[in-house]
Amino acid sequence: MAVAIAIAAILIAAAAAVLLTQGRLRSSVGALSRETRRRDAGSATTSKAVKTPDAATTDEHDEEAESAGARARAGEARSSAASGLPAVESTAAEWSPVDEEELGVTRRQFFNRGIVAGILFATAGFGASALAFIWPSGKGGFGGKISAGKLADILAAIDEKKAPFYVPEARSYVTRYPTEDIAAAKKAGYPSAILPSLEDGFIVEYQKCPHLGCRVPWCGSSQWFECPCHGSKYNRVGEKRDGPAPRGMSLVAAEVSNGDLVINTGIILPGLPIGTDSTKQKPEGPSCI
Ligand code: FES
Repeated sequence: MAVAIAIAAILIAAAAAVLLTQGRLRSSVGALSRETRRRDAGSATTSKAVKTPDAATTDEHDEEAESAGARARAGEARSSAASGLPAVESTAAEWSPVDEEELGVTRRQFFNRGIVAGILFATAGFGASALAFIWPSGKGGFGGKISAGKLADILAAIDEKKAPFYVPEARSYVTRYPTEDIAAAKKAGYPSAILPSLEDGFIVEYQKCPHLGCRVPWCGSSQWFECPCHGSKYNRVGEKRDGPAPRGMSLVAAEVSNGDLVINTGIILPGLPIGTDSTKQKPEGPSCI
């Protein structure tokens, strides 16, 4: 729901930006330059003159007057040139290039707007995708709560195979925790988020080795976890017993809901410090590495 709202907000913001950009460009298109307005006024005057009954006579008079004026200005220019004086200043309007932006949507404007709109929509799409990707999922999948099945069945499978119950979706192992050692666990400093699962007789260990991140496999003969990468060893409940690892295996919070074991992969806590040995479990056979 929150992701949908965020995506909608980004798309609305992008659309608003495009509309604002287009509105600003459109407002500049309607304005005429001073030169254009003057030219239009001249055309209007000429049109009016054509509509009057005495148009022909007026035109002849105007042409004669203009010719006389032109001849007079030419005479003045010639006499000024002959006498070495500066020519009379022209009253003609200065030419200025036509502003293409005022004539309508040019090809350049069209492409500019297209590029801006494309960038905005691509950015909005990318932002929405990234947001949806990083948004934490409330349930299901790694990072959320994962149902591993009935706790009673899981514990029975552990006892029968004398091996941890592996939950691939949670990337975690479920092993037995002896309830008689809970006092020692509390004394050793087990986090409060983990204690409920210990009281239910199990513990969930994250599969990643705290040394350099290898997946730690279970060794059936020693009944320990043994990392083949650099030889770190952990007892059944993930407490470090040997090797270069800086601490015990990371622990995952879990709860029992209606008899189902629910692993909360959103809460993965660092393992216990070196030296912790709450269960006093010794290797029960030869090592695997
Ligand atoms: S990664 Fe496991 S011991 Fe180094």
